[in-house]
Amino acid sequence: MSSKRKIIIFDTTLRDGEQSPGCTMNLRDKLLVAEHLEALRVDVIEAGFAAASKGDSESVSEIARYVKNAAVASLCRALPKDIDASAEALRHAKHPRIHTFIATSPIHMEYKLKMAPDKVFEQAIAMVKYARNLCEDIEFSLEDASRSERPFIYRMVEGVIKAGASTINIPDTVGYAIPHEYAQLIADIRKNVDIGKARLSVHCHNDLGLAVANTLAAVAAGADQAECTLNGIGERAGNAALEEIVMALTTRREAFGVETNIDTTKIYSASRCIVQVTGSRVQANKAIVGENAFAHESGIHQHGVLANPLTYEIMTPESIGLPKNKMILGKHSGRHAFDSRLVELGFQFPADKVNELFILFKALADRKKTVSDADIEALARDVLNPYVERIKLKYFNVLASNAITPMSTVRLIIDNKEVEQVASGDGPINASFAAINKLVGTKAVLETFKLNATTGGANALGEVDVSVREGDRLARGHGSSTDVVEASIRAYLHALNILMCEKGSSAAV
Ligand code: KIV
Ligand code: ZN
Repeated sequence: MSSKRKIIIFDTTLRDGEQSPGCTMNLRDKLLVAEHLEALRVDVIEAGFAAASKGDSESVSEIARYVKNAAVASLCRALPKDIDASAEALRHAKHPRIHTFIATSPIHMEYKLKMAPDKVFEQAIAMVKYARNLCEDIEFSLEDASRSERPFIYRMVEGVIKAGASTINIPDTVGYAIPHEYAQLIADIRKNVDIGKARLSVHCHNDLGLAVANTLAAVAAGADQAECTLNGIGERAGNAALEEIVMALTTRREAFGVETNIDTTKIYSASRCIVQVTGSRVQANKAIVGENAFAHESGIHQHGVLANPLTYEIMTPESIGLPKNKMILGKHSGRHAFDSRLVELGFQFPADKVNELFILFKALADRKKTVSDADIEALARDVLNPYVERIKLKYFNVLASNAITPMSTVRLIIDNKEVEQVASGDGPINASFAAINKLVGTKAVLETFKLNATTGGANALGEVDVSVREGDRLARGHGSSTDVVEASIRAYLHALNILMCEKGSSAAV
């Protein structure tokens, strides 16, 4: 048995991560993420904020039913109705955790809560006791702890532990901390408060680009739990990235003297899953999971790596589940290469589904020179979320310049009937979407639109990811073409087809 201190990995991709602009996920997406988090062997999955909405409560409850090994947490303000909502949503969890919080910094108490510190203290204690009657495992967060006053922090930490909290989180809510100060805060709490068996947790935001550095400094200073998200998604500049924390603790295990339960070989596929369900790509030079993280461009580096990988590689691509030699997939690729790429991207389909996907892949490869990971993920998503393509694009024709109002004529085939509309808009894409809206008669709203050029040169392939909301339902669509207007239309129709299929309604044509 290892004698190293175990660091608890608390993943909040589904809660704080989902709070980042454009990263809203639907229930199916969240369950897929939860599956990856279980494969990664994270210790705690924060599934959402049950009191926020009916949809959030349902997601927490479904995830709680689904997750087998990790503890499942639901965040709530220190209010009885929020705590009740969390307890109810966690009813079927094997290891439920209520995570409640209140702000403790002078600025938050005075301007946001409009409460005196004594009142904040009383409410925190009362609510931890209240929650403790509903659930054994209680985490308490001192929101904006890094800007709170030491004596008040000590008083709160001691009080909530006595009231029944077993994990105390010290968040750097606004990403203001710097590593040595934050480490000192954790060391000071340990020194000044008898925390007994309770655990200290850290939760860092990345406003100054220091979230991971702060987390690691705090771990070295005695924090027991690190809160983080996949790809570092989260409010504003994001949260501390799980993959960076875990790979730092693993690669430099002797320096930290700690270990985690994480299966690092599942990192790459989990990261890809987040890209796929949020449509939010990671920058090429992002540590660990960026496209260039293991690419060696300069001749000197390439020579060194060929002679001995340790010359320039501090960890292997395989350690995060990335194949050493990534093959380009195209129309000459065989079944074997395709199957292994699916596994690398984190999909586990039964044989009949893989056959179905391979046929779709071949059809796509006939149209495109190379098939990207995003294309394969989009195909796989269609197989995971089957829908009927009731709306098809026949053609479109745009009239656009910098001197006229852009117009688009779109001809669709909806349930085998051809229909056509003309509309104007701020640009050719906007005009095309307006024409489609008229034809489909939808009240759907375009929530996010992301355009990416995946190949170089003037004939680069445009990949478009959109998310479209209709009421409380959200669908993501993906489209690619050498023409960005066409890629956009295809992505939009993809999302509308999913929405129509889920609703089972007919288009108002
Ligand atoms: O950033 C923060 O302070 C939080 C807490 C509510 C845990 O997300
Ligand atoms: Zn946060």
